[in-house]
Amino acid sequence: MTDDLAALRAETEAAIAAAADPRALDAVRVAVLGKSGSLTALLKGLGAVAPEARKERGAALNQVKSAIEAALEAQRAVVEARALDARLAAERMDVSLPPRPFAPGTAAEGGIHPIARTMEELTTLFGAMGFKVAEGPDIESDWHNFGALNIPDHHPARQDHDTFYVPAVDGRRPVLRTHTSPVQIRTMLNEAPPIRVIVPGRTYRADHDATHSPMFHQVEGLVIDRNIHLGHLKGCLIDFLRAFFGIADLPVRFRASYFPFTEPSMEVDIGWSRKTGELGKGGDWLEILGSGMVHPKVLANCGIDPREWQGFAFGMGIERITMLKHGIPDLRPFYEADIRWLRHYGADPLSPPSLVEGV
Ligand code: PHE
Repeated sequence: MTDDLAALRAETEAAIAAAADPRALDAVRVAVLGKSGSLTALLKGLGAVAPEARKERGAALNQVKSAIEAALEAQRAVVEARALDARLAAERMDVSLPPRPFAPGTAAEGGIHPIARTMEELTTLFGAMGFKVAEGPDIESDWHNFGALNIPDHHPARQDHDTFYVPAVDGRRPVLRTHTSPVQIRTMLNEAPPIRVIVPGRTYRADHDATHSPMFHQVEGLVIDRNIHLGHLKGCLIDFLRAFFGIADLPVRFRASYFPFTEPSMEVDIGWSRKTGELGKGGDWLEILGSGMVHPKVLANCGIDPREWQGFAFGMGIERITMLKHGIPDLRPFYEADIRWLRHYGADPLSPPSLVEGV
């Protein structure tokens, strides 16, 4: 390699190493490899070189060109990483600031969302009756959501559920769970009886108007033990409803109904006044939840011997009982994250539900 080329290479590599940002690096590239760059000029001058020296000169020029291109690329990675680090440092946000103290009515704070509050209350009340909280996935297999619950393919209950399906896996389409009942199945498969769980969680149905949201919440209850009978179901739900609504003599009515996964099945109504909306008086009935004795087929589907174990299950809509308890007239603001609504209906995070004071 001739001296001029060696010098050009050394000079260029030094300039590349000194380029601290993408723009400086680009300036070096243009000065050497650009249209009127120094190396480009030497390449153009190749035609003027004596034919016997041309081959060697051409090879040397190309070698220097490749070396410079490689150095440019390596340095580009370095300066880009450095630029990203600088940007991250400049845009750094301290998310570890302590929260401002809660001062009701003074600051812009909201409160515990009514749905979350109801879930806390359910957990407190059923917790006192010996229930644990169980959870399951929102995307559920067809078998957990329907089949194991004695809802076979083509059963009309499937249509009632306005199911959201997701793309098929192994020929079966998973669903967004249409109720919390699949967690009954998961619990019975994973745990040996006796079982006592509640399952608060999100559920989904393709339904959207003033009183229905495509995403809503339910709480499931499941009790499996020896010698469990309808009396236990009734006592448990009457106690719960009276404690939850804070009305010691709240009328509760059990009405025969049908669910594929319970037998017998009962819809549960509470007393209210259709005219004033007041709970506990007025002589009208309001349907509030579904319940029943767990169907022997469902127990068998989960490997539990129905001759040895019995149980009851129930499911209710969390939005519904929350609206009734607090006199909230419209479902839609539940999901609108409006701080004014939350400040009005939200609960004080510093006074969680307690059995002593009532939930
Ligand atoms: N899963 C039922 C529904 O969503 C409610 C239910 C649960 C009924 C458990 C009986 C027993 O409508």
